[in-house]
Amino acid sequence: MEAKALLSKLIGRTGLQEQHVQMLRRLEPLMAPMASEIALAFYDYLGRDEEMRAILWETPGRVERLYQSFADWYRGLFCGVYDAEYAERRARIGLVHAAIGVKPSFIMPAFGIVQELSLEHLRNTLRSPEIFSAVEAFEKIMTIEAALMQDSYMQAMEYGYRLGVAADQEKALVAGARAMLGKAN
Ligand code: HEM
Repeated sequence: MEAKALLSKLIGRTGLQEQHVQMLRRLEPLMAPMASEIALAFYDYLGRDEEMRAILWETPGRVERLYQSFADWYRGLFCGVYDAEYAERRARIGLVHAAIGVKPSFIMPAFGIVQELSLEHLRNTLRSPEIFSAVEAFEKIMTIEAALMQDSYMQAMEYGYRLGVAADQEKALVAGARAMLGKAN
């Protein structure tokens, strides 16, 4: 399924409505300035795992690039425009991870960390009547993000198998993602 069509299904399935989009926009001035701090804490978390640390430090300059691209991604959560361009950008991010060997099992715990860091900030800065609706909107966009990432991985693996160049799942995933990124460029 195309990223745009998938996004619109996910919006329906998570129940992301106009009121949630408005809430995410309202959270932007509160959350976007936290992006760099969350990026630091996020990559600190990744670096504590041996396998993830090896990927992070595989190439010089990678971690520095990541701080920036992760922070941009984070600010994007609150942009309030979840359209075809958004879906395609997010699908590509999934492919980039699959292509460099970030295993599917690394992804969901990483989303969990982003949620934890963000919820802590929401709890510390919002008054209690606002918290529920803020968390509700935030959880919906995070579920959509996780599902888009998961779908990229599935598509990459399927493509890798179709290419017939890889015998096992991990290799099929990497080969498929690299080929899909190559096609997109
Ligand atoms: C919540 C999950 C994650 C998010 C939102 C995220 C976000 C991003 C973004 C936005 C990029 C830039 C992609 C591009 O170039 O288009 C990126 C790249 C990357 N991420 Fe993640 N990431 C996540 C999980 C992980 C995990 C679990 C690892 C494990 C090591 C990881 C390692 C990397 C690496 C190595 C790159 C490539 C950097 C480069 O060479 O430019 N990420 N990530």
